[in-house]
Amino acid sequence: MSEPAIFLNFRMKQHITYSDMCKEAVGIAEKLNINPIGDFSRIAVLGMGGSGVAGDLLKDLMKYDSEKDIEIVKDYILPKNIDSNTLVFCISYSGDTEETLSQFLQATKRGCQIISITSGGRLKQWSEKKNIPVITLPSGYQPRDALPYMFLPIVVVLKKLGIADYSEDIKEAMNVANKIDTKIMEDVASGCRNCNIAIYGPANYSGIVARFKNEFNENSKMLVYSGCVPEMHHNEINGYQRMGKDSNIKVILLRDKDESVETRERFEITKKIDAEHSSGIYEIWATGKSKLAKIMSYSYIASYITARISELDGINREKVEIIQTLKKELKERLNLAEKLEKSL
Ligand code: PA5
Repeated sequence: MSEPAIFLNFRMKQHITYSDMCKEAVGIAEKLNINPIGDFSRIAVLGMGGSGVAGDLLKDLMKYDSEKDIEIVKDYILPKNIDSNTLVFCISYSGDTEETLSQFLQATKRGCQIISITSGGRLKQWSEKKNIPVITLPSGYQPRDALPYMFLPIVVVLKKLGIADYSEDIKEAMNVANKIDTKIMEDVASGCRNCNIAIYGPANYSGIVARFKNEFNENSKMLVYSGCVPEMHHNEINGYQRMGKDSNIKVILLRDKDESVETRERFEITKKIDAEHSSGIYEIWATGKSKLAKIMSYSYIASYITARISELDGINREKVEIIQTLKKELKERLNLAEKLEKSL
């Protein structure tokens, strides 16, 4: 099966397939000339929105089998434990996101071992000025569409630094989009239009749950409920009490053939509950054998479904007008990036 042509139509600028993008992303990182970094106990990913989600995916990939702490920071302030014992990936697709620039400067002052990932902007300039290695990405994408460019290089660099070797999994992940069944994605897209959406996945895919939510927000311009099993069984599930089959809420469950028996039983119970308290349930199964391939498959599915909804609804999915307006107003009020530049 080849990657669905319809997805190509959404990639207006480059007409590049997801698989090609993954291959290119790996190639870019392979070229990075990086010296072995000293010992460290923690990996931190700094970044916001479509860039920061690369950190969430890294946590999904590593959190249950890495001895290193993995911290994801999505704020202006760096927590105290991000110090010289921390390997930092500082990611901003545009290179001009003020929270990320603020984090970057704090990380340099604390002596963190930093690698920047960006297509340009201040982050690239500041990193070069401070002799910090930069993975430079192709420009012209919406940040969320460039996720493979931001996430896969981290995985490649981890191997270069002798931290974790996912080489075989990368090969599988690069081709996973070709193996995904288009029908389920089309069904979910057409079934979820004009509905309230709720997305639930297992706790070991919390980053992917966030990615789905964000893609609905940004591509389809829709609000969504989201959560992870088992935690949502202790709170959110109760919110369904006053919902009926006429509630116009569609539930998406992210399933994995390798999910634990507890997760499987919990999803089966969730399905029974939601059969009474929602207007429809979809199950989306990860494709692939390795966790990395499954992560990339879910990420592709999220993009496909949400882009497809925007196309069906005649919405320009690329534009994020509210985010842009907000950033402009913040710049007028705070002008933080320029202030930070003076302290460089
Ligand atoms: O997808 C988007 O446009 C946003 O979520 C951005 O990624 C976010 O605002 C941060 O910008 P950047 O990725 O350029 O750092």
